[in-house]
Amino acid sequence: MTKKITFKVQNGGSLQGEARVAGDKSMSHRSIMLGSLAEGVTHVTGFLEAEDALATLQAFRDMGVEIEQNGDGCVTIHGVGKHGLKAPKAPLYLGNSGTSMRLLSGLLAGQAFDSVLTGDESLSKRPMKRVTEPLAKMGADIKTTEKGTAPLEITGRAGQLTGIDYVMPMASAQVKSCLLLAGMYAQGETRVTEPAPTRDHTERMLNGFGYSVHVDKNQASITANGKLTAMTIDVPSDISSAAFFLVGASIAENSDVLLKHVGINPTRTGVIDILRLMGANIEVLNERIVGGEPVADLRVISSQLKGIDIPEYLVPLAIDEFPVLFIAAACAEGETRLTGAEELRVKESDRIQVMADGLQILGVNAQPTSDGMIIQGGTIGGGIVESHGDHRIAMAFAIAGLRATAPITILDCANVNTSFPTFKKLATDLGLQLTSEES
Ligand code: S3P
Repeated sequence: MTKKITFKVQNGGSLQGEARVAGDKSMSHRSIMLGSLAEGVTHVTGFLEAEDALATLQAFRDMGVEIEQNGDGCVTIHGVGKHGLKAPKAPLYLGNSGTSMRLLSGLLAGQAFDSVLTGDESLSKRPMKRVTEPLAKMGADIKTTEKGTAPLEITGRAGQLTGIDYVMPMASAQVKSCLLLAGMYAQGETRVTEPAPTRDHTERMLNGFGYSVHVDKNQASITANGKLTAMTIDVPSDISSAAFFLVGASIAENSDVLLKHVGINPTRTGVIDILRLMGANIEVLNERIVGGEPVADLRVISSQLKGIDIPEYLVPLAIDEFPVLFIAAACAEGETRLTGAEELRVKESDRIQVMADGLQILGVNAQPTSDGMIIQGGTIGGGIVESHGDHRIAMAFAIAGLRATAPITILDCANVNTSFPTFKKLATDLGLQLTSEES
């Protein structure tokens, strides 16, 4: 039914030139959600027109919000106000997108209508109890499967939610954001405490829309007293997409790449810190604030990386970048050890197992552990690897081709379209010898 895409990458080459990578996925989701709940018309530029963010966009259209796509990342949202969403006529299909499902579960728990959230095969396996359990403590009524997975059947409990004081057992921006969105419809205050800093785009964007979120150290709190007023949002490039070229230009000889207008929110820059600890040459240029978020141009030049023990405090700040960081580790001198990253096992795929399997096929000594991986840097060979439909794994192995000794074929790459539909074009423009085949 759905088409299969296979990536084939010729080994070797270098990356040279300038690129503006795709818009930030996290901010794109949130711009649609909050723009829809705002009073007035919100204009978004730099919006990520990729399957995940478009799933959120479609969900809000299905709930009666008029949203115009004007091309080239320009989106106009005719906000309906905090209480203006309408009952969707059918289940909301959220594709591959965990962010859509987890954030929407919080937002929809306190609406005056019922809803059902569904997703693709990968999303239907991902844990949802991490959101439904704290939401139940707030008075929400959400049914999952016995395994605690989607479909989520939400009975709207308008006026019946109550704020809670919740200490998250894991560092998750999705859980935090879910509860803050539910807290906009709850009596009293909703407080969420995180065990380690996670991305704070929800807090920043809510405040940007004029809805007060109070942040004190590792705790964010919100009440139902407030409204959102439409605004203009310029979504920067996604550092998680830029990461492929930060690693690619570091590991490929004679490389020099300038990545323009990248979001460098400090809750997202763990990849830069980790690569610098490994000896990468990354310059952060032209730093500025755009719509409440820090943005910069990143210049990266080839360098010989060395293996490190990745500090655990950096794990949540680089959580989506580990597939490509494992490729960096495979090219580094010596051993790299990752610990404290068990969350990688419940991403779009089990990123510890799938990356270890692929690296081993390519001849790399990569040992998975329960919460991370131990990789001996050395030579990357060629071969056929499985991405298991995980976009970031597909792109990571494509980047590995720059240092491989023979071509690499990567199976099941269609989901690159969930986060970075322009990856192949940008990567080949910069010098990656990548082709794709559809079947
Ligand atoms: C995201 C949070 C992260 C990240 C995901 C996007 C978000 O997930 O992995 O790609 O937009 O809030 P967790 O919060 O589950 O770690």
